[in-house]
Amino acid sequence: MDKNISLKNFINNIPKAELHLHIEGTFEPELMFKIAERNKIKLKYNSVDEIHSAYKFNNLQEFLDIYYEGANVLITEQDFYDLTWEYLEKIHSQNVLHTEIFFDPQTHTDRGIEFSTVISGIHHALKDAEREFGITSKLIMSFLRHLSEEDAFDTLQQGFKFRDWIDGVGLDSSEAGNPPSKFKRVFDKARSEGFLVMAHAGEEGPAEYVWEALDLLKVQRIDHGNRSLDDEQLTRRIAEEQIALTVCPLSNLKLRVVKNLEEHPLKTMLDKGILATVNSDDPAYFGGYVTENYLETAQALNLSKEHIYQLARNSFEGSFLSSEEKSKMLERVDEYFRSQK
Ligand code: ADE
Ligand code: ZN
Repeated sequence: MDKNISLKNFINNIPKAELHLHIEGTFEPELMFKIAERNKIKLKYNSVDEIHSAYKFNNLQEFLDIYYEGANVLITEQDFYDLTWEYLEKIHSQNVLHTEIFFDPQTHTDRGIEFSTVISGIHHALKDAEREFGITSKLIMSFLRHLSEEDAFDTLQQGFKFRDWIDGVGLDSSEAGNPPSKFKRVFDKARSEGFLVMAHAGEEGPAEYVWEALDLLKVQRIDHGNRSLDDEQLTRRIAEEQIALTVCPLSNLKLRVVKNLEEHPLKTMLDKGILATVNSDDPAYFGGYVTENYLETAQALNLSKEHIYQLARNSFEGSFLSSEEKSKMLERVDEYFRSQK
């Protein structure tokens, strides 16, 4: 068989988890048109092709401006359900068995959509996918770091009403100039309420922000974390403590965090013993879901099947599944790998 087809099949079929995914970032242009039409909203684009050609970004902020604009057409619970369901169908076809997804409540509540509308649509799709596809999930509400500490506290408070549906809190949006320290008290409160905690750090921001996320926010996982490698002591700590990094190669490429995939630090992270994982971040905007992220990175960095196997294992090791659930999932990865040798 053609080497690339065989690698693609191997990657697609290996059992894996996704740990870094913004549900608003899965909004495919076709669905955007459909939902805009039923909500009688006029998009500023005339076609799917026009939307695709607008998706050229020089940095994180240029992307975020377009991403928040896209989310404006999401109004009803059904809209959030359809958005989430389409993503779950897609990852089911890529043999993702477990997903931990972010949603950004403030992107919606700030334009008058009720918190309950947003979370009900997402939650019901997640439960339906568990029943229909056997995909398990965690739901993480993420604070927009360009907004104030007070806004984040207010969002956390609204989340308390849905304590049974929300597993953790995260921190995303414009990183530079919005250090983790700005949200120390919010994260203290979230931890004391029993939420899992994680934060985007070291995507565009410096290694110092990763230190802050670990020491001040006391996060259990770092989203992205690329810039950690600028600091030897931090690199050693992340490897020693096995703090998972949820790395997003195609996102890094499209947002110019790396010049090209050949220069992506994923392999270096693995070589240094870091628990690095591969994820899609905002797949509708960056041109690929999990399989495409593994495949394009594997081709650019010459990753072997052993590397892919390691990454699939890491995706479960770095997840928030219980240790029994992790063991079961890891057994499935091992079994698949043995069957392919
Ligand atoms: N929100 C959605 N995607 C993001 C990213 N890659 N970085 C920060 N905030 C985001
Ligand atoms: Zn992200």
